[in-house]
Amino acid sequence: MGISISIMEVKDIPASIELWKNMKGLAIRGSDNIRDLSEHVKMNPKHNFIATSEDQLVGTVLGGYDGRRGYIYHLAVHEDFRRKDTGRELMEKCFQSFREIHVTKCHMMVLKDNTGAQDFYSKIGCEPRDEILVFSKTL
Ligand SMILES: CC(C)(COP(=O)(O)OP(=O)(O)OC[C@H]1O[C@@H](n2cnc3c(N)ncnc32)[C@H](O)[C@@H]1OP(=O)(O)O)[C@@H](O)C(=O)NCCC(=O)NCCS
Repeated sequence: MGISISIMEVKDIPASIELWKNMKGLAIRGSDNIRDLSEHVKMNPKHNFIATSEDQLVGTVLGGYDGRRGYIYHLAVHEDFRRKDTGRELMEKCFQSFREIHVTKCHMMVLKDNTGAQDFYSKIGCEPRDEILVFSKTL
């Protein structure tokens, strides 16, 4: 049962939201609705990917480009499909899509208690940034 990676389209959003529901480690917010996610996919048509197995959506990664840096959101692999390199392949596709438009760095935010994802990102060559704190403003 192979897993294939392809570009995410707007039609994949409902199944993606379903995958993310109750998934430990993800911070799912009010903006994770079909309208806002469709906007994201339309604005970043080349940086979002899904993993599928026999037509079932089993993985996602969202990539956003702000004109300078790349940002990674909602990397997720269905529990039954983990530790088969799917997360790594999703991330590599996303990195490659950024390289193609000459983005030289991308960032990912990880919940402090999500040590699994921290280990995963370290394994695929990402570096934690101890010197940075993220501030946010609700608009
Ligand atoms: C993080 C996640 C996407 C990893 O997906 P995955 O498909 O299982 O990862 P891969 O099989 O590609 O693993 C790549 C490497 O990371 C390691 N790794 C993966 N998950 C790990 C974990 N929980 N703890 C330690 N190492 C881990 C693998 O062993 C592998 O290492 P290797 O290079 O020695 O072979 C998946 O666990 C997940 O969906 N978690 C819940 C959602 C989440 O936390 N997302 C990140 C939000 S910031």
